[in-house]
Amino acid sequence: MNLEEIKKILVIGSGTMGQQIGLVCAMNGYDVTLHDLSEELLVKAMARVRKMANGYVRAGRLSQAEAAAAIDRISPSSDPEGAGRDADFVSESVPEDPVLKGRVFALFNGICPERSIFTTNTSTLIPSMFAEATGRPDRFAAFHFHDVRFTNLVDIMPHPGTSEATVRLIEDFARRIGQNPVTLKKENYGYVFNAMLSAWLDTAEALAANEVSSVEDIDRSWMAVFHMPIGPFGIIDSIGLDTVWKVNDFWATQLNHGQFRKNAEFLKSYIDQGRLGEKSGRGFYEYPDPEFRKPDFKTNRKKVPEPGI
Ligand SMILES: NC(=O)c1ccc[n+]([C@@H]2O[C@H](COP(=O)([O-])OP(=O)(O)OC[C@H]3O[C@@H](n4cnc5c(N)ncnc54)[C@H](O)[C@@H]3O)[C@@H](O)[C@H]2O)c1
Repeated sequence: MNLEEIKKILVIGSGTMGQQIGLVCAMNGYDVTLHDLSEELLVKAMARVRKMANGYVRAGRLSQAEAAAAIDRISPSSDPEGAGRDADFVSESVPEDPVLKGRVFALFNGICPERSIFTTNTSTLIPSMFAEATGRPDRFAAFHFHDVRFTNLVDIMPHPGTSEATVRLIEDFARRIGQNPVTLKKENYGYVFNAMLSAWLDTAEALAANEVSSVEDIDRSWMAVFHMPIGPFGIIDSIGLDTVWKVNDFWATQLNHGQFRKNAEFLKSYIDQGRLGEKSGRGFYEYPDPEFRKPDFKTNRKKVPEPGI
């Protein structure tokens, strides 16, 4: 398989990341099939994809015609057979659960052509965890996107059985869809950026879960000192509390780690109230106008009352 032979992209999972990846591929001229478990989920996903494309138009990144053409190139499908039959390149974005990912890859290995390249968008796992389940370990690697709306850095992480040709092909494909690849020399939990990010988020969660400080003050501290537009809890809202909880829950169990368990329980208390972050309109903050974007959030300055006469 070479770059010119890649025509059809299959994106498995039409949630936060599947929507972004599907749109970025379609914006760059690829035919995309967006696959999820039900038509209902796909209708919701396509509505969000359209909203995202309109956002790109408003920001001057796409013309109206380009946005419409990109949307037309995306076909939603809840039927695995139809979705996978002619896929040249697969990008998997189902929830962060190695057993589920393995099951999904095994299913699509039985459906997709022999030549298809399989990739996982996992944030915190490593591809060797499910390389065998893909049935094509040499044509499989992690190909990890960040929030595509704001950055075009992607990670490529081969496992020991990934062929050199597959790594080069994924790098070329990344550039073809306007992304800048960082290829890891070896597997590492959290790639490069996420390895640093997780340490930061874990610490922020522990400060709140241990009742050392408030969510707002933790964000405010980071934002004020580093002159950042967003802090750790704003970031968790944009990732999705359920996604971050899954990571915490997994590592709390794997490592029998008390603080990770406490952090997971802290996140769960929000999730149980339907506060999943930006995607559900509420997380640590309320959307679309979260408190941390207000001009006086960083200073936390209350209006000083006029001195009485
Ligand atoms: N959210 C982020 O900021 C982010 C960034 C980079 C990578 N990731 C990774 O991307 C992956 C997906 O994360 P997300 O935030 O998009 O999750 P999400 O929960 O928003 O979406 C997951 C989607 O997968 C679907 N799904 C579940 N089981 C399925 C199956 N068997 N077949 C097909 N679809 C199925 C769900 O219905 C859902 O629509 C995770 O591995 C996550 O770690 C997330």
